[in-house]
Amino acid sequence: MSNSMQHAYQGIARADREKRIGHRSLLIWFTGLSGSGKSTMAVAMEAELQRRGLLTYVLDGDVVRRGLCSDLGFSLEDRTENIRRIGEVAKLMVDAGVIVLAAFISPLAKDRQRVREIMPEGSFFEVYCNSSLSVCEHRDVKGLYKKAREGKIAEFTGISSVYEEPSNPEMILPTGTSTVASCVEQLMSAIMAKVAISAAEHV
Ligand code: ADX
Repeated sequence: MSNSMQHAYQGIARADREKRIGHRSLLIWFTGLSGSGKSTMAVAMEAELQRRGLLTYVLDGDVVRRGLCSDLGFSLEDRTENIRRIGEVAKLMVDAGVIVLAAFISPLAKDRQRVREIMPEGSFFEVYCNSSLSVCEHRDVKGLYKKAREGKIAEFTGISSVYEEPSNPEMILPTGTSTVASCVEQLMSAIMAKVAISAAEHV
């Protein structure tokens, strides 16, 4: 690589990309039990943000575990590694100027905290999808709770594996009791305020 190319490559900062794209980037991190509505919220939020012309991408546990993390299981060690990799990928995407919507159980507070710490200040927005175990189990969208109760799935979050509630998330969404539309509305206003570039910064 020539010197000038190296310079050009290193010279493009996140702020420059954000200006060109027209909004700030951000990592929106949805955490909660299986079936709490993380993926539903990420997808619904992405649709709303895209409708406004914003640059977004969804990272979802069920998808990422088929590719990047297909070598990992559900022991706490593997979950830690899963979240570490997602955090690194999300960090790169945020640097590229994208609003990333990450939907992962991420049961351990220390793993979520580590993602927060590797992100630039103010770029991590933790959303707790607060739905009780009984609501998630009653919904049982994928039939996994039934299997876990029957002992057919080991180390299932909320049944035979821990979930640590966030103690100080940026937002708590009542996904177990409110509609998707009202949760989206609540989150949208907070996110739009965070990603907006003020008129003064455009000059
Ligand atoms: S995490 O704990 O490492 O963050 P992740 O969000 O990637 O988990 O994947 C969770 C998804 O994997 C669940 O929605 C469910 O579909 C599936 N799954 C399979 N086995 C388990 C298990 N033992 N515990 C939790 N989820 C499981």
